[in-house]
Amino acid sequence: MSVNEQQKWNERYQSGEFGFREPDPFVMDAHRDYLLPLLPAGAEGLDLAGGAGHHAVWLAQQGWAMTLADFSQTALNLAQERSTDEKTGAKIAIHCGAAQDVVQSWIQEQRQFGFVLVSFFMERALLPLLPKLLAPNGLLLYRTYTIENLKLGNPRGPRDPNHLLQSQELLTTYSALRILHYNETVVKKGVVELIAQRA
Ligand SMILES: C[S@@+](CC[C@H](N)C(=O)[O-])C[C@H]1O[C@@H](n2cnc3c(N)ncnc32)[C@H](O)[C@@H]1O
Repeated sequence: MSVNEQQKWNERYQSGEFGFREPDPFVMDAHRDYLLPLLPAGAEGLDLAGGAGHHAVWLAQQGWAMTLADFSQTALNLAQERSTDEKTGAKIAIHCGAAQDVVQSWIQEQRQFGFVLVSFFMERALLPLLPKLLAPNGLLLYRTYTIENLKLGNPRGPRDPNHLLQSQELLTTYSALRILHYNETVVKKGVVELIAQRA
């Protein structure tokens, strides 16, 4: 992890560019169509690189035992404010650290989750490690930009190909999982969605 990157993200959260907002339909639909039917009530969920916690807090409000991990303390402070809000009553565990370190240490501890959500974050070296964080029958929910996003001229999203998926890359990487949902957007923005289960 580069300290510059971490600082850059702290500044983006300080500027209000990435504030707390409503969860994406992808997450709400995944909750209804896959988490509720397939997981035991109250299962543990991880929102990796989950930023200011808009997904983690909403998922906690739906009854999942959420952990939010990110390397931006500024983002996590926003999540903390929201998670202690009396109105929402959502409680989430918050963990500050680089995704690589966090994932490696939890794998060593054999920590597992009912589901792992990764939304708009991609470090290629982490991809093959994520299934190790899944409990049996656990679900991986992944949504992020593909390399197509650059060609389509979408001003949003990373420019560095190291943080952009190739078409079909998640299908290849997670071929040992049961793929339940897969979609690639090729108009206006290049975004991939995957929901897969540890068989
Ligand atoms: C585009 S934001 C996405 C936030 C959230 N998942 C969402 O969907 O809104 C990317 C997030 O990844 C975090 N991040 C970037 N690199 C990271 C790293 N190496 N380790 C942990 N978090 C990282 C940033 O702090 C930021 O919160």
